[in-house]
Amino acid sequence: MIGRLNHVAIAVPDLDAAASLYRDTLGAKVGAPQDEPDHGVTVIFIELPNTKIELLYPLGENSPIQGFLDKNPSGGIHHICYEVDDILAARDHLQATGARVLGSGEPKIGAHGKPVLFLHPKDFTGTLVELEQV
Ligand code: CO
Repeated sequence: MIGRLNHVAIAVPDLDAAASLYRDTLGAKVGAPQDEPDHGVTVIFIELPNTKIELLYPLGENSPIQGFLDKNPSGGIHHICYEVDDILAARDHLQATGARVLGSGEPKIGAHGKPVLFLHPKDFTGTLVELEQV
């Protein structure tokens, strides 16, 4: 059911430092920061030959990233995103197997303008999983 790894999202306490690390130390193609007010994050997209890295930094109050950074002050992997062809079919299959979909269960439009869902980390070996319909 799942396809390509679309991205790995890393929450960071210092966006400039993390961008510099990926650009100058690791030599990656690092984009400009983009505010995503609907998601409470500022994102920097990093393009790798086979996938993307997304650096996440809290934006505004009640950012979903802030609690994560409180628990992980040096930052860390926040979620991984797999591609699916049909997000509603994927959701129905997952729910039928007992996996928990976060929120209302209805897909939201994610940072790339495509429908996404998040799956409960306790059902996926401690990893927050995002599904994106491509
Ligand atoms: Co994501």
